[in-house]
Amino acid sequence: MNSHYPFELPPLPYSYNALEPYLDSETLKFHHDKHFKAYVDNLNQALEKLPAYQNWTLERLIRENYRLPFQVQTAVWNNAGGVYNHNLYFNLMEHPGNQEPEGKLHSAILSAFGSMDKFYQKLKTCAQSQFGSGYGWLVADCRGRLKVLNTLNQDTPLPRGFCPVLLVDVWEHAYYLQYQNRRGEYLDAFMRLINWAAAEENYLGCFARPMQRPGRK
Ligand SMILES: [Fe+2]
Repeated sequence: MNSHYPFELPPLPYSYNALEPYLDSETLKFHHDKHFKAYVDNLNQALEKLPAYQNWTLERLIRENYRLPFQVQTAVWNNAGGVYNHNLYFNLMEHPGNQEPEGKLHSAILSAFGSMDKFYQKLKTCAQSQFGSGYGWLVADCRGRLKVLNTLNQDTPLPRGFCPVLLVDVWEHAYYLQYQNRRGEYLDAFMRLINWAAAEENYLGCFARPMQRPGRK
């Protein structure tokens, strides 16, 4: 994906049926090809006539959203968040396996939550309790300590100063075709799909860059 405008839809990093039976191909195809693509297209459209902001990265468009012209702030906030969140989400799943994280992330999870089972339960409870559309997150603070939280719509934890490690999409478009209203079953399935190597990479990346101070939004 380009680091700035024009943003591009990254290809799905696996085939449409690679995550079955936990996520079926129809769900993945609609989610990636229609919903994710719409956020990319709408973000580009919002920035089309704003050359002064076309070299801004996705993260900057989110963190410094308040510096954009007022009339495009909401469109950029929602669609930049949609692009950022979906890019993370699709890269955090892999073919089903029972692998657990290793190394620094595993230690940090045990330190924060006590066990992997307690972490899974906390993330599930948090994501399930998100009213309406949003995400459940595992994030790191400026000292690398982990926390589970949820966000509404296409908000991200970036403006609050947290570094994203893992997220699960609980918009109905992420699971309704296969699971209808059974969000809990979808969350159980997601836990089996976590690409822990990608999550570990995200976590280590949190130490590779200075943590940003929270923005205004
Ligand atoms: Fe989504």
